[in-house]
Amino acid sequence: MQVTLKVFRYNPEKDKKRHYKTYTLEADPTDQVLDLLEKVKNTEDGTLSFRRSCAHGVCGSDAMRINGVNRLACKVLVQDVGNKITVEPILGLSVEKDLIVDMEPFFDNFRSVMPYFVNDDEPPQQERLQSPEDRARFDDTTKCILCGACTTSCPSFWANSEYLGPASIINAHRFIFDNRDKAAEDRLKILNDQFGVYRCHTIYNCTDACPREIEVTKAIGEVKKAIVTGRLS
Ligand code: FES
Repeated sequence: MQVTLKVFRYNPEKDKKRHYKTYTLEADPTDQVLDLLEKVKNTEDGTLSFRRSCAHGVCGSDAMRINGVNRLACKVLVQDVGNKITVEPILGLSVEKDLIVDMEPFFDNFRSVMPYFVNDDEPPQQERLQSPEDRARFDDTTKCILCGACTTSCPSFWANSEYLGPASIINAHRFIFDNRDKAAEDRLKILNDQFGVYRCHTIYNCTDACPREIEVTKAIGEVKKAIVTGRLS
C-alpha cells in the first residue's frame, strides 16, 4: 500500500521556521511507523533525526505524536492509523532537531522524587521478603519505561514544565507503596509541593497515552490520598 507520511522538520542550525515535509512510501500494513521513519532516513533524507533503540516497546526512546496522539513509533502499525500519517515531536519539551526533544527537564523531575529503594536497615541473610499482596500494591507502576508519553500529554505539564508530571509521580508511587522501603514520607513531602500532585486535574490523558497500559491517573490518585490521609493503606 502507498502511505503519505508527513513529518515535522526543524534544524535550528539551518531552518528559520519549523515546517513539515511529506514523503510518499510503499509500506506493508504491518510495518511500524518507526519502519517508515527508518525508510525515509535510509532512502530519502539521511538528516531526518529521531530517537530509537529496541524497536520493541521496551526502551521508551521513540515516543512521538502520531496523528495527534502520543505513542511509541515502534508500537504503532500502519494498519492501526491508516495511510495518512502525521508524525510530530512530543509537546511541552523544546525541540532539538526534527522529532528529538530535550528530555532533561523530564529526567530532572524524575530524579527529584527519589526514584530508588531506600532502606538502611541491616539486610537479612537472604532477601527482604514481601507477600504477593504487598507486591501487588505497586506492580502496575513498575512497568514504566520512562518514555515520557504520559507527562507530555498532560496540559498541566504543557503549562509549566516544573510540574513533576505523571511519569515522576508514578515512579515515586512504585517506592511509596513498597512496604520494604523507608522513604515514603520524604517522597510524599516532595509531591505535596506546589509543583506536585495537585497540579493533576484528573484529565486522564496520561492513562490514554501510556504504551504500557499503566493506570497512571489511578496511581496519582493513590498518592494524593496518601498525602491527605497520611496513610499508605
Ligand atoms: S524503540 Fe524502544 S520503545 Fe520504541
